[in-house]
Amino acid sequence: MKAAYIESTGPAESTIKFGDVPRPEPTGRQALVRVGAVAVNPIDTYLRNGANYWELPKPFIIGCDLAGTVEAVGRDARRFKPGDRVWGSNQGLLGRQGTFAEYCAIDEEWLYPTPASVTDEQAAACALVGITAHLGLFREAKLEIGEHVFVNGGSGGVGSMVVQMAKIAGARVLATAGSAEKVAALKQLGADVAVNYKTDDAAAAVKTFAPSGINAYWETVREPDFDRIVSYLAERGRIILMAGRDARPPFPVGPFYVKGCSLHGFVMFKATADEQRRCADDISQWLGAGKLKAHISRVLPLAQAAAAHKLQEENTLQKSGTLAGKIVLKP
Ligand SMILES: NC(=O)c1ccc[n+]([C@@H]2O[C@H](COP(=O)([O-])OP(=O)(O)OC[C@H]3O[C@@H](n4cnc5c(N)ncnc54)[C@H](OP(=O)(O)O)[C@@H]3O)[C@@H](O)[C@H]2O)c1
Repeated sequence: MKAAYIESTGPAESTIKFGDVPRPEPTGRQALVRVGAVAVNPIDTYLRNGANYWELPKPFIIGCDLAGTVEAVGRDARRFKPGDRVWGSNQGLLGRQGTFAEYCAIDEEWLYPTPASVTDEQAAACALVGITAHLGLFREAKLEIGEHVFVNGGSGGVGSMVVQMAKIAGARVLATAGSAEKVAALKQLGADVAVNYKTDDAAAAVKTFAPSGINAYWETVREPDFDRIVSYLAERGRIILMAGRDARPPFPVGPFYVKGCSLHGFVMFKATADEQRRCADDISQWLGAGKLKAHISRVLPLAQAAAAHKLQEENTLQKSGTLAGKIVLKP
């Protein structure tokens, strides 16, 4: 089968190969999925570039997210049968093989049924970012109806999921983006207030939007400005952190604890299969009901995986602003 894979880590153009690798056989509780679509995430590029969080299989098929159709199942698989449409994430992580291939053998605990009305592109593009948004808003921040949420970077893969899920949960949402078009797109996603982080006065916007302060602040930027963030928070406000491994910013201890605030950091790939399935059940239901939509910026053939990685890192790391949401690839 064709796959996008690496044999050593380094820059996208010189390490990602597109070629033939053996097609896996499903064993035990695995399902063999014929891939319809995959999506790129920033972590794919960190791993390819040698982040060294864990040992990678050799060759390593890149990618975490997928959606497709079950082709065959292992002897002990119970959840799915051939012909079922499924989506999933959390592959290519913690030493597992990735998804950028024509077929993937995946333990059924990481797969979820795709609603009939939802395309593989949509399901794949919601996978890792959707589960991340759900874990942060509900397991970590324990978001409640009517609360005020600030999403810094609402135009990105994760941020666009956070905006939509917070609205589904009955919260009020202020989100930021870096251009007039992206600010307009935030309103389409359901944000009550959309702010251009380059040109607008976010502090003034917060004062009008949430006079008593922000209850849950979601940071997608890798260098958080805690003086600014804590100044926005309400009593018992929660800050969600999930990016910026190398960030060591100053922290306003006094203003933070006096308001009884809390700080919640997490990585989605450490959530258990049961925790991730609880998120996935909601995501599938919301996708099927048309309440949640992936924000897809580009659809490319799988053979262009190297170009896709380059585009992702130019945006997430170099902040080129040329993407508005997810990159999806199709075998
Ligand atoms: N912990 C976890 O489990 C987990 C899961 C997923 C992702 N992540 C991490 O979370 C981060 C975001 O991931 P992603 O997939 O959403 O990336 P992304 O699609 O590249 O989104 C990045 C976002 O940051 C915004 N941004 C850039 N500079 C900004 C600034 N100065 N102020 C406010 N917003 C700014 C961008 O806005 P514009 O495009 O409008 O400029 C965009 O909305 C990455 O670092 C990723 O590694 C962590």
